[in-house]
Amino acid sequence: MLVTLKEILKIAEEKKIAIGAFNTPNFTSVRAVIAAAEELRQPVILMHAQVHEDMGICKMEEMTPVMRAFAQGAGVPVCVHLDHGTSLDYIRRGIDLGFTSVMYDGSALPLAENISNTITAISYAGKTGASVEAEVGSMGTAEGGGEGDPSIYTDPAMAEEFVKRTGVDALACAFGTVHGFYKSAPKLDFQRLSMVRERTGVPVVMHGGSGVSHDDYRRVIQCGVRKINYYTYMSKAGAAAVSGKEYAQFHDVLLDAERAMRADVIAAISVFSGLNA
Ligand code: 13P
Repeated sequence: MLVTLKEILKIAEEKKIAIGAFNTPNFTSVRAVIAAAEELRQPVILMHAQVHEDMGICKMEEMTPVMRAFAQGAGVPVCVHLDHGTSLDYIRRGIDLGFTSVMYDGSALPLAENISNTITAISYAGKTGASVEAEVGSMGTAEGGGEGDPSIYTDPAMAEEFVKRTGVDALACAFGTVHGFYKSAPKLDFQRLSMVRERTGVPVVMHGGSGVSHDDYRRVIQCGVRKINYYTYMSKAGAAAVSGKEYAQFHDVLLDAERAMRADVIAAISVFSGLNA
């Protein structure tokens, strides 16, 4: 069942859980994520990241019809989300293609420009009823990895002003996670996260979900995180399952990778939804 981010986050608020949001830059990962969500009977978010187009992995035009078809055919609520859209033109094209949610990422811009561009993104999204996520503060380079830098974490007062002026549906908060692999265990600023949630009142999004401990997942959810973005470890699980093996047929490579990614996603969704608390 295809739904918007706003609809799926309502479920998260009611149950006090976080919905897993997985980047799916190929057919195999879409199948793995949908199978995991259906097996656990939990809502899920499929994401296309603009950076994966920049890296030549997939194009938005190729993946959106696939993601939408799987969402429509799924027996659980599925949101189809554009992740880290940094240009308004890309956001507009994504909305026209049928994403039910977009993230406009103006986090590298001055606050006033981030606010005015987010308002423009919200007006585009209004044409189809799509939801909008935005970001204040920064986690550093997109999908790059490395350590968190407290000087660029989300400022709760700025976040409050941002949400008041834009009316955004969800806010990505920088409080110690980074995209990609961690060089050492992340140290999360839970106090900052709680303040952002308290002052904005909107569902908070945690990016850089791979490599965070189960205890920390549970704690951020208690502090108001309702969407957890996750990709690197799922992708790593798929790669590990096929590395060093000899295959006669390429479809067997894909099937092994899919099984491993599905198992990794099942483990992630189980923690995010409190199934193994
Ligand atoms: P990871 O790849 O670190 O899990 O983060 C994914 C993400 O935040 C996508 O926006």
